[in-house]
Amino acid sequence: MERLMTVILAAGEGKRMKSKHSKVSHRFCGKALVEWVYSAAKGAGSDECIVVVGHKADEVRELLGEKVLYALQESQLGTGHAVMQADEYLKGKDGYVMVLYGDTPLITAETLKKTVEFHSRNNNSATLITAVLDDPAGYGRIIRNAEGNVIRIVEDKDANADEKAIKEANPGMYCFNARDLVMALKELNNNNSQGEYYLTDTLEILVKKGMKVGAIPVEDNREILGINDRVQLAHAAEIMRRRILERHMRLGVTIMDPSSVHIDGDVEIGTDTIVYPGTIMEGSVKIGEDCIIGPNSRITSSVIGNGVEINNSVVVDSTVGDGTHVGPFAYIRPGSCIGRKVKIGDFVEIKKSIIGDKTKISHLTYVGDAEVGRNVNLGCGVVVVNYDGSKKHKTVIGDNAFIGCNVNLVSPVDIKNNSYIAAGSTITEDVPESSLAIARSRQVVKEGWVEKKGLKRTE
Ligand code: UD1
Ligand code: CA
Repeated sequence: MERLMTVILAAGEGKRMKSKHSKVSHRFCGKALVEWVYSAAKGAGSDECIVVVGHKADEVRELLGEKVLYALQESQLGTGHAVMQADEYLKGKDGYVMVLYGDTPLITAETLKKTVEFHSRNNNSATLITAVLDDPAGYGRIIRNAEGNVIRIVEDKDANADEKAIKEANPGMYCFNARDLVMALKELNNNNSQGEYYLTDTLEILVKKGMKVGAIPVEDNREILGINDRVQLAHAAEIMRRRILERHMRLGVTIMDPSSVHIDGDVEIGTDTIVYPGTIMEGSVKIGEDCIIGPNSRITSSVIGNGVEINNSVVVDSTVGDGTHVGPFAYIRPGSCIGRKVKIGDFVEIKKSIIGDKTKISHLTYVGDAEVGRNVNLGCGVVVVNYDGSKKHKTVIGDNAFIGCNVNLVSPVDIKNNSYIAAGSTITEDVPESSLAIARSRQVVKEGWVEKKGLKRTE
């Protein structure tokens, strides 16, 4: 296959978003609009991508970073003018150039791939994707000759009544031969109702030179939805959300109530995992097989093993090993590494800690900046006191340790393997291996004290 470059136009303002941010930086399912377009191009085999930036250029640059090249369009003089700004990257190059608009995030890699293959197979000079729309208002219309070949595109604002009646519209996605595109851009003018350089005019220029321009109708009109305001943003987000859920379901994941589950684009889930209602998976998440996730759980940028249960809990930037149970109502904060067959029970918070295999932290516990060994039991109400008011300190608990209920471990302390800590202790010093530490005052009982003081309580 020929080398494939992609130019994504993202310089426009997008006034109707009513936003301080660039239109293409608005997000759904974990990616900004322009990132979705970039992913589709990449998935279609694009070797190099040039993004034309203008409005809020820095914001767009920050979004995409160094994986793409940038061309700056200082004033927005039209889509043709925008592509001209990428000239330095295109001129003298062989191969194909896809031109896409940064505000049509639902286009799929499959459709773009098909378009490039069609373009190549037919030896076209240019190929455009078209869509037949019930209401094509606002879109450029496709003008075909008597033989049915595309001869030009007329913009809505320049169209006469007959042209406006045409339902075949231009979604704004093209594949060009690089050399032909560069040549046609040189011949563009702005003699039209908007005084803009129209990219669409390149097609007529190529046709007039006797070159072949082809069109490929999109199979699913939802793919060409453009985003101009926040209502369309929400509509597109819903389509993408469904698309992602259906992909997982086809790959063997049960999603109990798809209307209440949100899964970002970069999530992998193993077969026979069941996702209960109200669950959100954000960022780059990997979940193993045979898990039960949810209800009402939020997992962000984490790796979850096989056979894990996460019930009504939050897991952020952490890993959870095979066979572990989390929740209900647990909070696993960034930097935590939970081992296999661990139990993290209700109202337990783990922050930046390592928890060894088979350890049980069943209820009402805080573990921060700690390293907990294997097969440890933390009783109800244990607190790792990791913060002294100015610094965080680390506590280490050895394998098979038993930490009684309501114990404070004032960090830094080192509890060695096989030790026991008596319930209610406040531990401030290290505990050697296989010992019992008790750090509380002895109980005193004063018999007859109530009568003596006249304090007997009555109803
Ligand atoms: C364009 C097409 C029209 C098509 C429609 C689909 C042209 C001349 N017309 O019209 O046929 O039906 O898209 O939505 O191409 N942009 C720049 N710099 C500019 C102008 C635009 O980067 O100077 C970018 C915008 O940010 C946007 C995209 O190009 O992402 C499309 O621009 P827009 O103004 O929406 O084009 P339309 O007039 O809608
Ligand atoms: Ca548009």
